[in-house]
Amino acid sequence: VVLVVDYGAQYSQLIARRVREASVYSEIVPHTMPVSEMLAKDPTAIILSGGPSSVYADGAPQVDPTLFATGVPVMGICYGFQAMAQALGGHVAHTGASEYGRTSLCITAPGHLLSRIPHTISVWMSHGDSVERAPEGFTTLARTAGAPVAAFEDVERKLVGVQWHPEVMHSESGQAVMEHFLFDVAGCRPDWTASSIVGDQVSRIRAQVGDRRVICGLSGGVDSAVAAALVQRAVGDQLTCVFVDHGLLRKGEAEQVKHDFVDSTGADLVVADESDRFLTALAGVSDPEQKRKIIGREFIRAFEEEARALNDGQPIDFLVQGTLYPDVVESGGGDGAANIKSHHNVGGLPEDLQFSLVEPLRNLFKDEVRAVGLELGLPEDIVWRQPFPGPGLAIRIIGEVTRDRLDVLREADAIAREELGAAGLNRKIWQCPVVLLADVHSVGVQGDGRTYGSPIVLRPVTSEDAMTADWSRVPYDVLEKISTRITNTCPQINRVAIDVTSKPPATIEWE
Ligand code: XMP
Repeated sequence: VVLVVDYGAQYSQLIARRVREASVYSEIVPHTMPVSEMLAKDPTAIILSGGPSSVYADGAPQVDPTLFATGVPVMGICYGFQAMAQALGGHVAHTGASEYGRTSLCITAPGHLLSRIPHTISVWMSHGDSVERAPEGFTTLARTAGAPVAAFEDVERKLVGVQWHPEVMHSESGQAVMEHFLFDVAGCRPDWTASSIVGDQVSRIRAQVGDRRVICGLSGGVDSAVAAALVQRAVGDQLTCVFVDHGLLRKGEAEQVKHDFVDSTGADLVVADESDRFLTALAGVSDPEQKRKIIGREFIRAFEEEARALNDGQPIDFLVQGTLYPDVVESGGGDGAANIKSHHNVGGLPEDLQFSLVEPLRNLFKDEVRAVGLELGLPEDIVWRQPFPGPGLAIRIIGEVTRDRLDVLREADAIAREELGAAGLNRKIWQCPVVLLADVHSVGVQGDGRTYGSPIVLRPVTSEDAMTADWSRVPYDVLEKISTRITNTCPQINRVAIDVTSKPPATIEWE
């Protein structure tokens, strides 16, 4: 394992992902973890992340200098680089020449770390302090206008550092720098692959579950499908999957889960058609928060009823959850990484459910989950599905949710999805909510007659992680096809609009 020591959360997750993209397993640990605990994990290398502080500021997180004498290869990035320089007798100072954003880097002596990289590259910087003098035994490899020592290495001791952020997309040759450290300096092996993850998880699940029964709630999303497929691979028919169809799904979605998932995994699937229950509970409700609460509550009840009905003498002891690594890190879970925010697991189940959890995706990032899904033979339609909110179309009908309104929205949504897919835009856009402004009416003319219908809003967005988003510049001819087909197919719709707001200030969903 490569340990990424966290000095500032946004960077450490990115670093861990880059390491794994090089097929090397990595874990994030807090900077407060004692060196002895780090060594107990038997790390093949350690990376000190960037962070917001100045190394000599009061209360700045420190690096224990004994780390550099353990023989474990260490790479310092930005803050980690400066902390390493300071701990080993180099000189860090505020030179007055801060660099933020794109910066030109000149490689003066490539060494191992910067070999096979162009002599001048553009890198992403974010620093006010600079290393003025490298510690003894280190070779200075590069400089920028504001950083006389922008990278150094001591190959003998396997210690390297860079001032810039090789982990961010904007840094040219960033992945190459990471890989030179991992493979050329630290001697890591690229053995973290989808098939090794599957093999490893299958034996872990078998060891945890033994011959007992497991239940999994499928949502139709990628994470629950991959988690269930892994458990299915491990314990076969000890697993029962439950799919609660709340009637708020998109066209063909319930069938897709039934066929695609069952066909590719052979899993035992119980489908509970609960649309009446949800629509009855939602009758007369138009407040978004109230809709969400009702759906969450009914979902849990429906799931519990199914679980109880499945108890035929041999009780179910385990529940599969599709929790991902970023959820664990952000909740301050796992190895006690920084607590950024508490994660609400989608469709959160109450604690008194009395199941033990099986969470086979707990160590994985989303892209790894997709790779594992493909490795397990799940169809691309499931693996590359765009996000869809748990409360479904209910939060895309602005106003009360009724069966008729759901039918209209379902049709319009299917047309939008079809045309965006046909235009090859599925992986370019993050998702495209289609929203029915059910209580708004405007005048139109359709088939030579006056109509008084409702508008549909298209909300295509691009995003990396849904925390921020931009509206997607979908080509006009695609928008035109969508608009024409929706108004031709749905007589209740006489206007199609597009939402051109980023997040923030708007959110992706309208409710
Ligand atoms: P917002 O609207 O907050 O959405 O910008 C961010 C992302 O989260 C999805 N979303 C949900 N997903 N349950 C979910 O599983 C929910 O209640 C929920 N609400 C929003 C949304 O589709 C977008 O991808």
